[in-house]
Amino acid sequence: MADTTSVVLHSLPTDSHHCNTGRVYGNDFADPDQPPGSGLLDEVADAERELRARNAQDVGAGDAGAGSDYFAALVAADQKIEPRDWMPDGYRATLIRQMAQHAHSEIIGMQPEANWITRAPSLKRKAILLAKVQDEAGHGLYLYAATETLGVSRDALYELLLGGKQKYSSIFNYPTLTWADIGAIGWLVDGAAIVNQVPLCRCSYGPYARAMIRICKEESFHQRQGFEILHTLAHGTPQQKAMAQDAVDRWWYPSLAMFGPPDTDSTHSAQSMAWKIKRFSNDDLRQRFVDMCAQQATVLGLTLPDPDLRWNPERGAYDYTPPDYAELMEVIRGNGPCNRQRMAHHRAAHEDGAWVREAASAYAAKRAARAAAPQPSELTHV
Ligand SMILES: [Fe+2]
Ligand SMILES: [Fe+2]
Repeated sequence: MADTTSVVLHSLPTDSHHCNTGRVYGNDFADPDQPPGSGLLDEVADAERELRARNAQDVGAGDAGAGSDYFAALVAADQKIEPRDWMPDGYRATLIRQMAQHAHSEIIGMQPEANWITRAPSLKRKAILLAKVQDEAGHGLYLYAATETLGVSRDALYELLLGGKQKYSSIFNYPTLTWADIGAIGWLVDGAAIVNQVPLCRCSYGPYARAMIRICKEESFHQRQGFEILHTLAHGTPQQKAMAQDAVDRWWYPSLAMFGPPDTDSTHSAQSMAWKIKRFSNDDLRQRFVDMCAQQATVLGLTLPDPDLRWNPERGAYDYTPPDYAELMEVIRGNGPCNRQRMAHHRAAHEDGAWVREAASAYAAKRAARAAAPQPSELTHV
């Protein structure tokens, strides 16, 4: 795999030498005016180091009394809340809602990309896309497992999704019309996901934070493969470049909407920030994403579909046109281009897979019974 990656990276044209450095390539983006080590992946590595160091520290939270005092002391000390720790009901409910929605998004998000596995333009592209879609299944698995530590079963979470009581990210209700959409999804959708998820590596709930560290490392590959697909198309024939531009035009605003409603309308933010589940506001994260993409688009040779996008030296950030939040709310309400199709496909796959779940349960029960039964050597001594 390492060899394949290096071939892909080295095949990038030399006129875009920044592609392969920590400056604007993939999610290694770092502000050139900042010291090295301030990219998103560096933040993931910092969060992992911090997690290990905090675990080793005794903050005396155990002396702070039971229940809410202990919880507050752990959160204040930036230590992790673990499944057996006391936690407020609202904290548990918020995490179940957020983590389940995240898990559902990983699973439903496989559909628009799987649409192109059979039509990928080469064996190499097919193998890369297959690996990426399988990664998303793995992300769903980690996140369902992490959500189960809060006392809810995966079956129950599936029922809530299928019953329309829990959501998944609205972005996956848009169609993938051309091969270039796979590039745009990797660059923009996985890119937005990483910007959202890197701060979650420092989330106060241990199982979620640990899952996010691993997921962010894998998302890095996803964003790079999308960037590389678009880069190849943008430097190909005029038709290929037009196809890449069309995909970016269609995916830009839905990607901006992935950060949720503006801060003024965000219902869950203040409490989530106080509990250290969320670290930055929706608008702060959206701005960070815009700043990252504006520079990367230049390297790609593509244009972001926003005539008002320009650097604002006073703010030290790009001014941009926000997404259409009314459209976002419509898609969340179930009226996006592919909502019904996605749920129908998911329901059919769930029903088709019933025999696999039954067989796996029967096999597990048989193994458990065998393990509990006396071994032949024990029998001979009876
Ligand atoms: Fe993922
Ligand atoms: Fe991904």
